[in-house]
Amino acid sequence: MGIKAILPSRPLRSPRVLIAAAVGVLGVVTAVIVPTTPAGAAASTLGAAAAQSGRYFGTAISAGKLGDSQYTTIAGREFNMVTAENEMKIDATEPNRGQFNFANGDRVYNWAVQNGKRVRGHTLAWHGQQPGWMQSLSGSSLRQAMIDHINGVMAHYKGKIYAWDVVNEAYADSGGGRRDSNLQRTGNDWIEVAFRTARAADPAAKLCYNDYNIDNWSWAKTQAVYNMVRDFKQRGVPIDCVGLQSHFNSGSPYNSNYRTTISSFAALGVDVQITELDIQGASPQTYAAVVNDCLAVARCAGITVWGVRDQDSWRSGDTPLLFSGGNKKPAYDAVLNALNAASPGPDPTPTPTPTPTPTPTPTPVPDGCAATITTTNSWQGGFQSTVTVQAGGTAISAWTVQWTWPGGQSISSLWNGQQSVSGSSVTVRNAAYNGSIAAGGSTTFGFTANGTAATPTATCTSP
Ligand code: XIL
Repeated sequence: MGIKAILPSRPLRSPRVLIAAAVGVLGVVTAVIVPTTPAGAAASTLGAAAAQSGRYFGTAISAGKLGDSQYTTIAGREFNMVTAENEMKIDATEPNRGQFNFANGDRVYNWAVQNGKRVRGHTLAWHGQQPGWMQSLSGSSLRQAMIDHINGVMAHYKGKIYAWDVVNEAYADSGGGRRDSNLQRTGNDWIEVAFRTARAADPAAKLCYNDYNIDNWSWAKTQAVYNMVRDFKQRGVPIDCVGLQSHFNSGSPYNSNYRTTISSFAALGVDVQITELDIQGASPQTYAAVVNDCLAVARCAGITVWGVRDQDSWRSGDTPLLFSGGNKKPAYDAVLNALNAASPGPDPTPTPTPTPTPTPTPTPVPDGCAATITTTNSWQGGFQSTVTVQAGGTAISAWTVQWTWPGGQSISSLWNGQQSVSGSSVTVRNAAYNGSIAAGGSTTFGFTANGTAATPTATCTSP
Protein backbone atom coordinates (compact mmCIF):
# COMPACT_ATOMS: atom_id res chain seq x y z
CA MET A 1 0.00 0.00 0.00
CA GLY A 2 1.45 3.34 -1.06
CA ILE A 3 1.39 6.53 0.94
CA LYS A 4 -1.23 7.92 -1.43
CA ALA A 5 -3.72 5.38 -0.21
CA ILE A 6 -3.13 6.33 3.38
CA LEU A 7 -3.09 10.09 3.38
CA PRO A 8 -6.51 11.66 3.85
CA SER A 9 -7.71 13.73 0.92
CA ARG A 10 -8.43 16.69 3.17
CA PRO A 11 -5.48 19.00 3.74
CA LEU A 12 -3.49 18.29 6.83
CA ARG A 13 -2.98 21.27 9.04
CA SER A 14 -2.11 20.15 12.46
CA PRO A 15 1.00 18.35 13.60
CA ARG A 16 -1.27 15.89 15.39
CA VAL A 17 -2.75 14.70 12.16
CA LEU A 18 0.67 14.52 10.59
CA ILE A 19 1.78 12.33 13.45
CA ALA A 20 -1.34 10.23 12.95
CA ALA A 21 -0.46 9.94 9.27
CA ALA A 22 3.01 8.77 10.15
CA VAL A 23 1.53 6.19 12.47
CA GLY A 24 -0.78 5.23 9.64
CA VAL A 25 2.23 4.51 7.42
CA LEU A 26 3.38 2.10 10.08
CA GLY A 27 0.09 0.30 9.90
CA VAL A 28 -2.62 2.00 11.96
CA VAL A 29 -4.55 3.06 8.92
CA THR A 30 -7.91 3.63 10.53
CA ALA A 31 -6.46 6.26 12.83
CA VAL A 32 -5.69 8.35 9.77
CA ILE A 33 -8.95 7.97 7.94
CA VAL A 34 -11.02 9.17 10.86
CA PRO A 35 -9.00 11.78 12.73
CA THR A 36 -10.15 11.66 16.31
CA THR A 37 -9.33 15.25 17.10
CA PRO A 38 -11.89 17.36 15.25
CA ALA A 39 -9.92 20.50 16.02
CA GLY A 40 -7.12 19.02 13.96
CA ALA A 41 -9.25 18.34 10.93
CA ALA A 42 -9.48 21.04 8.33
CA ALA A 43 -12.31 20.71 5.85
CA SER A 44 -11.64 22.22 2.45
CA THR A 45 -15.11 23.43 1.49
CA LEU A 46 -17.56 25.68 3.28
CA GLY A 47 -20.27 23.04 3.50
CA ALA A 48 -17.96 20.38 4.90
CA ALA A 49 -16.42 22.85 7.31
CA ALA A 50 -19.82 23.91 8.62
CA ALA A 51 -20.93 20.29 8.89
CA GLN A 52 -18.18 19.63 11.42
CA SER A 53 -20.26 21.49 13.97
CA GLY A 54 -23.61 20.20 12.69
CA ARG A 55 -24.34 23.32 10.68
CA TYR A 56 -24.88 24.01 7.01
CA PHE A 57 -23.43 26.58 4.66
CA GLY A 58 -25.68 27.57 1.78
CA THR A 59 -26.09 29.90 -1.13
CA ALA A 60 -28.85 31.45 -3.17
CA ILE A 61 -29.09 29.80 -6.60
CA SER A 62 -30.63 31.21 -9.76
CA ALA A 63 -32.18 28.77 -12.23
CA GLY A 64 -30.95 30.94 -15.09
CA LYS A 65 -27.32 30.35 -14.12
CA LEU A 66 -27.39 26.58 -13.91
CA GLY A 67 -25.91 26.46 -17.42
CA ASP A 68 -22.82 28.39 -16.28
CA SER A 69 -20.22 25.77 -15.46
CA GLN A 70 -18.02 28.07 -13.39
CA TYR A 71 -21.09 28.90 -11.29
CA THR A 72 -22.25 25.30 -10.87
CA THR A 73 -18.72 24.06 -10.20
CA ILE A 74 -18.24 26.46 -7.32
CA ALA A 75 -21.76 26.08 -5.97
CA GLY A 76 -21.70 22.31 -6.30
CA ARG A 77 -18.41 22.04 -4.46
CA GLU A 78 -18.77 24.58 -1.67
CA PHE A 79 -22.35 24.64 -0.38
CA ASN A 80 -24.72 22.12 1.17
CA MET A 81 -27.88 24.21 1.40
CA VAL A 82 -29.65 26.03 -1.40
CA THR A 83 -32.23 28.81 -1.51
CA ALA A 84 -33.90 29.68 -4.81
CA GLU A 85 -33.06 33.34 -5.27
CA ASN A 86 -36.40 34.15 -6.97
CA GLU A 87 -37.92 30.95 -8.27
CA MET A 88 -40.11 29.99 -5.31
CA LYS A 89 -41.50 33.47 -4.74
CA ILE A 90 -45.17 34.23 -5.20
CA ASP A 91 -44.93 35.77 -8.67
CA ALA A 92 -42.90 32.78 -9.89
CA THR A 93 -45.02 30.00 -8.40
CA GLU A 94 -48.55 31.40 -8.86
CA PRO A 95 -48.42 33.77 -11.86
CA ASN A 96 -52.20 33.53 -12.26
CA ARG A 97 -54.57 32.94 -9.39
CA GLY A 98 -55.00 29.24 -8.83
CA GLN A 99 -52.46 28.32 -11.55
CA PHE A 100 -49.22 27.17 -10.07
CA ASN A 101 -45.94 26.97 -11.96
CA PHE A 102 -43.03 25.17 -10.41
CA ALA A 103 -40.85 24.87 -13.49
CA ASN A 104 -38.02 27.12 -12.28
CA GLY A 105 -38.48 26.30 -8.64
CA ASP A 106 -38.07 22.65 -9.52
CA ARG A 107 -34.97 23.40 -11.60
CA VAL A 108 -33.30 24.84 -8.54
CA TYR A 109 -34.69 22.16 -6.26
CA ASN A 110 -33.60 19.32 -8.53
CA TRP A 111 -30.14 20.71 -9.07
CA ALA A 112 -29.75 21.01 -5.30
CA VAL A 113 -30.86 17.52 -4.35
CA GLN A 114 -29.05 15.90 -7.28
CA ASN A 115 -25.93 17.50 -5.89
CA GLY A 116 -26.56 16.37 -2.34
CA LYS A 117 -27.84 19.63 -0.94
CA ARG A 118 -30.84 20.51 1.16
CA VAL A 119 -33.21 23.29 0.22
CA ARG A 120 -34.67 26.26 2.07
CA GLY A 121 -37.99 27.51 0.73
CA HIS A 122 -38.25 31.23 0.03
CA THR A 123 -40.89 32.66 0.42
CA LEU A 124 -44.65 32.19 0.91
CA ALA A 125 -46.18 35.42 2.22
CA TRP A 126 -44.53 38.72 1.35
CA HIS A 127 -45.47 42.19 0.16
CA GLY A 128 -42.70 41.95 -2.45
CA GLN A 129 -42.67 40.14 -5.78
CA GLN A 130 -46.40 39.54 -5.72
CA PRO A 131 -48.01 38.77 -9.07
CA GLY A 132 -50.27 41.50 -10.40
CA TRP A 133 -53.45 39.65 -9.52
CA MET A 134 -52.41 39.46 -5.87
CA GLN A 135 -51.30 43.08 -5.74
CA SER A 136 -54.81 44.13 -6.67
CA LEU A 137 -56.53 41.99 -4.03
CA SER A 138 -57.46 43.13 -0.56
CA GLY A 139 -59.42 42.09 2.49
CA SER A 140 -60.84 38.62 2.84
CA SER A 141 -60.16 37.63 -0.77
CA LEU A 142 -56.45 38.44 -0.34
CA ARG A 143 -56.42 36.58 2.96
CA GLN A 144 -57.90 33.56 1.24
CA ALA A 145 -55.46 33.90 -1.66
CA MET A 146 -52.55 33.93 0.78
CA ILE A 147 -53.81 30.76 2.44
CA ASP A 148 -54.40 29.08 -0.93
CA HIS A 149 -50.93 30.09 -2.07
CA ILE A 150 -49.24 28.65 1.01
CA ASN A 151 -51.21 25.43 0.62
CA GLY A 152 -50.49 25.16 -3.09
CA VAL A 153 -46.75 25.70 -2.88
CA MET A 154 -46.19 23.71 0.27
CA ALA A 155 -48.18 20.77 -1.10
CA HIS A 156 -45.90 20.65 -4.15
CA TYR A 157 -42.76 20.58 -2.02
CA LYS A 158 -44.24 18.64 0.90
CA GLY A 159 -41.61 16.76 2.85
CA LYS A 160 -38.79 18.14 0.67
CA ILE A 161 -37.94 21.47 2.25
CA TYR A 162 -35.67 21.91 5.26
CA ALA A 163 -37.17 25.26 6.26
CA TRP A 164 -39.66 27.66 4.71
CA ASP A 165 -39.52 31.42 5.02
CA VAL A 166 -43.24 31.50 5.68
CA VAL A 167 -43.45 35.26 6.12
CA ASN A 168 -40.87 37.69 4.76
CA GLU A 169 -40.23 41.31 5.76
CA ALA A 170 -43.45 42.08 7.63
CA TYR A 171 -42.01 44.76 9.90
CA ALA A 172 -41.47 48.45 9.21
CA ASP A 173 -37.95 49.77 8.85
CA SER A 174 -38.32 52.06 11.85
CA GLY A 175 -40.65 52.58 14.74
CA GLY A 176 -41.06 48.97 15.77
CA GLY A 177 -44.40 48.38 14.06
CA ARG A 178 -45.67 46.36 11.17
CA ARG A 179 -44.97 47.41 7.60
CA ASP A 180 -48.02 48.68 5.79
CA SER A 181 -48.92 46.30 2.97
CA ASN A 182 -51.97 44.73 1.39
CA LEU A 183 -51.35 41.66 3.54
CA GLN A 184 -51.09 43.72 6.73
CA ARG A 185 -54.34 45.46 5.87
CA THR A 186 -56.12 42.07 5.87
CA GLY A 187 -55.71 42.12 9.66
CA ASN A 188 -52.88 41.96 12.16
CA ASP A 189 -53.29 38.21 12.51
CA TRP A 190 -52.14 37.53 8.94
CA ILE A 191 -48.71 36.38 10.09
CA GLU A 192 -49.97 33.80 12.55
CA VAL A 193 -52.58 32.61 10.07
CA ALA A 194 -49.75 32.09 7.57
CA PHE A 195 -47.76 30.07 10.11
CA ARG A 196 -50.72 27.92 11.19
CA THR A 197 -51.56 27.26 7.56
CA ALA A 198 -47.96 26.34 6.83
CA ARG A 199 -47.69 23.92 9.75
CA ALA A 200 -50.77 22.07 8.61
CA ALA A 201 -49.56 22.01 4.98
CA ASP A 202 -46.14 20.47 5.70
CA PRO A 203 -45.49 19.48 9.30
CA ALA A 204 -41.96 18.34 8.37
CA ALA A 205 -40.67 21.76 7.36
CA LYS A 206 -39.22 24.20 9.84
CA LEU A 207 -41.20 27.42 9.68
CA CYS A 208 -39.22 30.66 9.72
CA TYR A 209 -39.95 34.34 9.98
CA ASN A 210 -37.38 36.10 7.78
CA ASP A 211 -36.44 39.79 7.70
CA TYR A 212 -33.64 42.31 7.13
CA ASN A 213 -32.33 44.88 9.59
CA ILE A 214 -33.16 42.65 12.52
CA ASP A 215 -29.47 41.92 13.07
CA ASN A 216 -28.68 44.81 15.39
CA TRP A 217 -30.08 44.05 18.83
CA SER A 218 -30.57 47.72 19.69
CA TRP A 219 -32.78 48.47 16.69
CA ALA A 220 -36.51 48.84 17.24
CA LYS A 221 -37.23 46.52 14.32
CA THR A 222 -35.21 43.74 15.95
CA GLN A 223 -37.05 44.19 19.22
CA ALA A 224 -40.39 44.20 17.43
CA VAL A 225 -39.69 40.89 15.71
CA TYR A 226 -38.29 39.48 18.94
CA ASN A 227 -41.53 40.43 20.72
CA MET A 228 -43.58 38.81 17.97
CA VAL A 229 -41.64 35.54 18.20
CA ARG A 230 -41.90 35.51 21.97
CA ASP A 231 -45.62 36.12 21.72
CA PHE A 232 -45.97 33.31 19.18
CA LYS A 233 -44.06 30.90 21.39
CA GLN A 234 -46.17 31.86 24.39
CA ARG A 235 -49.44 31.44 22.55
CA GLY A 236 -48.49 28.29 20.71
CA VAL A 237 -48.41 29.79 17.22
CA PRO A 238 -46.14 27.39 15.29
CA ILE A 239 -42.76 28.96 14.56
CA ASP A 240 -39.42 27.15 14.49
CA CYS A 241 -36.88 29.63 13.26
CA VAL A 242 -35.97 33.22 12.65
CA GLY A 243 -34.12 34.13 9.49
CA LEU A 244 -31.70 37.00 9.82
CA GLN A 245 -31.17 38.14 6.24
CA SER A 246 -28.00 39.97 7.26
CA HIS A 247 -27.45 42.20 4.26
CA PHE A 248 -24.69 44.32 5.78
CA ASN A 249 -23.65 47.63 4.28
CA SER A 250 -22.85 51.17 5.35
CA GLY A 251 -26.49 51.93 6.11
CA SER A 252 -26.95 48.71 8.04
CA PRO A 253 -23.53 47.67 9.23
CA TYR A 254 -22.54 44.58 11.18
CA ASN A 255 -22.57 45.35 14.89
CA SER A 256 -20.87 43.30 17.58
CA ASN A 257 -24.22 42.92 19.34
CA TYR A 258 -25.20 40.51 16.52
CA ARG A 259 -24.27 37.62 18.80
CA THR A 260 -26.71 38.95 21.39
CA THR A 261 -29.41 39.08 18.74
CA ILE A 262 -28.75 35.48 17.75
CA SER A 263 -28.60 34.16 21.30
CA SER A 264 -31.65 36.16 22.36
CA PHE A 265 -33.80 34.73 19.59
CA ALA A 266 -32.41 31.27 20.30
CA ALA A 267 -33.31 31.64 23.96
CA LEU A 268 -36.95 31.97 22.92
CA GLY A 269 -36.78 28.38 21.68
CA VAL A 270 -36.36 28.93 17.94
CA ASP A 271 -33.48 28.17 15.60
CA VAL A 272 -31.69 31.10 14.05
CA GLN A 273 -30.65 30.90 10.41
CA ILE A 274 -28.54 33.50 8.69
CA THR A 275 -30.43 33.48 5.44
CA GLU A 276 -29.12 36.04 2.94
CA LEU A 277 -25.68 37.06 4.08
CA ASP A 278 -23.72 39.58 2.03
CA ILE A 279 -21.33 42.23 3.29
CA GLN A 280 -20.53 45.34 1.30
CA GLY A 281 -16.84 45.15 0.48
CA ALA A 282 -16.61 41.60 1.88
CA SER A 283 -14.30 42.43 4.78
CA PRO A 284 -12.70 39.12 5.88
CA GLN A 285 -12.84 40.29 9.49
CA THR A 286 -16.56 40.99 9.31
CA TYR A 287 -17.29 37.71 7.56
CA ALA A 288 -15.33 35.88 10.26
CA ALA A 289 -17.18 37.76 12.98
CA VAL A 290 -20.54 36.73 11.53
CA VAL A 291 -19.43 33.09 11.37
CA ASN A 292 -18.06 33.17 14.90
CA ASP A 293 -21.26 34.71 16.23
CA CYS A 294 -23.27 31.90 14.67
CA LEU A 295 -20.84 29.27 15.97
CA ALA A 296 -21.18 30.69 19.47
CA VAL A 297 -24.88 29.84 19.64
CA ALA A 298 -25.95 26.20 19.49
CA ARG A 299 -29.27 27.04 17.86
CA CYS A 300 -27.69 29.04 15.06
CA ALA A 301 -28.28 26.29 12.52
CA GLY A 302 -26.44 27.60 9.50
CA ILE A 303 -25.48 30.39 7.16
CA THR A 304 -26.57 31.11 3.60
CA VAL A 305 -24.81 33.70 1.45
CA TRP A 306 -26.96 35.54 -1.08
CA GLY A 307 -25.22 34.38 -4.21
CA VAL A 308 -22.07 32.61 -5.34
CA ARG A 309 -19.80 35.18 -7.06
CA ASP A 310 -19.86 38.96 -6.82
CA GLN A 311 -21.27 39.08 -10.33
CA ASP A 312 -24.24 36.99 -9.14
CA SER A 313 -25.11 39.35 -6.30
CA TRP A 314 -28.26 41.47 -6.34
CA ARG A 315 -25.85 44.15 -5.12
CA SER A 316 -22.94 43.28 -7.37
CA GLY A 317 -21.55 46.83 -7.13
CA ASP A 318 -20.90 46.15 -3.43
CA THR A 319 -18.73 43.11 -4.26
CA PRO A 320 -20.23 41.53 -1.13
CA LEU A 321 -19.72 37.79 -1.70
CA LEU A 322 -17.01 35.14 -1.26
CA PHE A 323 -15.97 34.57 -4.88
CA SER A 324 -14.80 36.88 -7.64
CA GLY A 325 -15.17 35.10 -10.94
CA GLY A 326 -13.76 31.66 -10.24
CA ASN A 327 -11.50 32.90 -7.44
CA LYS A 328 -11.82 32.60 -3.69
CA LYS A 329 -11.65 36.03 -2.06
CA PRO A 330 -9.90 36.71 1.27
CA ALA A 331 -13.35 36.62 2.88
CA TYR A 332 -13.68 33.01 1.71
CA ASP A 333 -10.53 32.02 3.60
CA ALA A 334 -11.72 33.90 6.67
CA VAL A 335 -15.03 32.03 6.63
CA LEU A 336 -13.45 28.65 6.00
CA ASN A 337 -10.90 29.13 8.77
CA ALA A 338 -13.55 30.26 11.24
CA LEU A 339 -15.71 27.24 10.42
CA ASN A 340 -12.74 24.90 10.75
CA ALA A 341 -11.93 26.31 14.17
CA ALA A 342 -15.38 25.38 15.51
CA SER A 343 -15.81 22.65 18.03
CA PRO A 344 -17.70 19.54 16.85
CA GLY A 345 -21.46 19.39 16.64
CA PRO A 346 -24.30 18.93 16.48
CA ASP A 347 -24.55 21.16 19.55
CA PRO A 348 -21.11 22.65 20.05
CA THR A 349 -22.10 24.87 22.93
CA PRO A 350 -25.19 25.05 25.06
CA THR A 351 -27.46 27.88 23.96
CA PRO A 352 -25.97 30.74 25.92
CA THR A 353 -28.56 32.69 27.76
CA PRO A 354 -27.46 36.17 26.73
CA THR A 355 -26.16 36.89 30.14
CA PRO A 356 -23.50 39.40 31.05
CA THR A 357 -23.90 38.61 34.74
CA PRO A 358 -23.90 35.17 36.36
CA THR A 359 -27.19 33.86 37.67
CA PRO A 360 -27.10 34.05 41.44
CA THR A 361 -28.58 31.16 43.36
CA PRO A 362 -31.53 32.39 45.36
CA THR A 363 -31.01 31.87 49.07
CA PRO A 364 -33.14 28.89 49.98
CA VAL A 365 -35.86 29.59 52.46
CA PRO A 366 -37.20 27.06 54.94
CA ASP A 367 -40.72 27.47 53.60
CA GLY A 368 -42.50 29.58 51.06
CA CYS A 369 -40.39 30.91 48.19
CA ALA A 370 -37.57 33.25 47.21
CA ALA A 371 -37.09 35.29 44.05
CA THR A 372 -34.00 36.72 42.40
CA ILE A 373 -33.81 39.12 39.47
CA THR A 374 -30.93 38.75 37.00
CA THR A 375 -30.13 41.00 34.07
CA THR A 376 -29.69 38.81 31.00
CA ASN A 377 -29.30 41.54 28.38
CA SER A 378 -29.06 45.27 28.24
CA TRP A 379 -28.88 47.86 25.53
CA GLN A 380 -29.19 51.61 25.38
CA GLY A 381 -32.50 52.50 27.00
CA GLY A 382 -33.56 49.01 27.90
CA PHE A 383 -32.79 45.63 29.36
CA GLN A 384 -34.02 42.08 29.70
CA SER A 385 -34.22 40.13 32.95
CA THR A 386 -34.92 36.67 34.19
CA VAL A 387 -36.52 36.17 37.58
CA THR A 388 -35.88 32.86 39.29
CA VAL A 389 -38.57 31.75 41.71
CA GLN A 390 -37.44 29.02 44.06
CA ALA A 391 -39.59 26.98 46.41
CA GLY A 392 -38.35 26.37 49.96
CA GLY A 393 -38.57 23.15 51.94
CA THR A 394 -42.14 22.41 50.87
CA ALA A 395 -43.83 22.37 47.50
CA ILE A 396 -45.89 25.41 46.58
CA SER A 397 -48.88 25.73 44.25
CA ALA A 398 -48.83 29.47 43.60
CA TRP A 399 -46.43 32.37 44.00
CA THR A 400 -46.37 36.15 43.97
CA VAL A 401 -43.18 38.16 43.43
CA GLN A 402 -42.96 41.84 44.24
CA TRP A 403 -40.30 44.51 43.79
CA THR A 404 -39.91 48.26 43.50
CA TRP A 405 -38.03 49.93 40.66
CA PRO A 406 -35.27 52.23 41.91
CA GLY A 407 -35.09 54.63 38.97
CA GLY A 408 -38.19 54.92 36.83
CA GLN A 409 -37.84 51.62 34.97
CA SER A 410 -40.96 50.22 33.31
CA ILE A 411 -41.72 46.76 31.95
CA SER A 412 -42.41 46.66 28.23
CA SER A 413 -43.38 43.04 28.15
CA LEU A 414 -43.39 40.08 30.51
CA TRP A 415 -43.73 36.35 29.92
CA ASN A 416 -44.41 33.27 32.06
CA GLY A 417 -46.23 35.40 34.64
CA GLN A 418 -49.06 37.90 35.15
CA GLN A 419 -48.03 41.40 36.12
CA SER A 420 -49.79 44.24 37.84
CA VAL A 421 -48.04 47.56 38.20
CA SER A 422 -48.74 50.36 40.61
CA GLY A 423 -46.35 53.28 40.26
CA SER A 424 -42.86 51.91 40.78
CA SER A 425 -44.18 48.76 42.46
CA VAL A 426 -44.40 45.60 40.36
CA THR A 427 -46.30 42.49 41.36
CA VAL A 428 -46.04 39.32 39.30
CA ARG A 429 -48.19 36.26 39.94
CA ASN A 430 -47.55 32.86 38.42
CA ALA A 431 -49.05 32.01 35.05
CA ALA A 432 -51.66 29.25 34.90
CA TYR A 433 -49.01 26.66 34.10
CA ASN A 434 -46.10 27.47 36.41
CA GLY A 435 -47.57 28.04 39.86
CA SER A 436 -46.62 24.61 41.17
CA ILE A 437 -43.00 24.19 42.20
CA ALA A 438 -41.64 21.12 43.94
CA ALA A 439 -39.79 21.51 47.25
CA GLY A 440 -36.39 22.97 46.44
CA GLY A 441 -37.34 23.39 42.77
CA SER A 442 -37.55 26.56 40.75
CA THR A 443 -39.16 28.21 37.78
CA THR A 444 -38.44 31.42 35.92
CA PHE A 445 -40.27 34.25 34.30
CA GLY A 446 -38.82 37.05 32.25
CA PHE A 447 -39.38 40.53 31.01
CA THR A 448 -37.98 43.33 28.94
CA ALA A 449 -38.05 46.82 30.39
CA ASN A 450 -37.27 50.40 29.50
CA GLY A 451 -34.67 52.33 31.47
CA THR A 452 -31.33 51.52 33.05
CA ALA A 453 -30.80 47.86 33.95
CA ALA A 454 -31.60 47.28 37.62
CA THR A 455 -31.79 44.25 39.89
CA PRO A 456 -33.89 45.34 42.87
CA THR A 457 -34.47 42.93 45.73
CA ALA A 458 -37.61 40.90 45.12
CA THR A 459 -39.82 39.30 47.73
CA CYS A 460 -41.72 36.12 47.09
CA THR A 461 -44.85 34.92 48.85
CA SER A 462 -46.85 31.75 48.42
CA PRO A 463 -50.23 31.00 49.95
C1 XIL B 1 -33.73 39.69 -4.31
C2 XIL B 1 -33.06 38.94 -5.43
O1 XIL B 1 -31.73 38.69 -5.07
C3 XIL B 1 -33.12 39.72 -6.70
O2 XIL B 1 -32.67 38.93 -7.79
C4 XIL B 1 -34.55 40.17 -6.98
O3 XIL B 1 -34.56 41.03 -8.10
C5 XIL B 1 -35.13 40.89 -5.80
O4 XIL B 1 -35.05 40.06 -4.67
N1 XIL B 1 -34.66 40.10 0.68
C6 XIL B 1 -35.19 38.92 0.25
C7 XIL B 1 -34.79 38.39 -1.07
O5 XIL B 1 -35.92 38.26 0.99
O6 XIL B 1 -35.82 37.66 -1.68
C8 XIL B 1 -34.31 39.46 -1.99
O7 XIL B 1 -33.81 38.85 -3.18
C9 XIL B 1 -33.26 40.32 -1.32
C10 XIL B 1 -33.81 40.97 -0.08
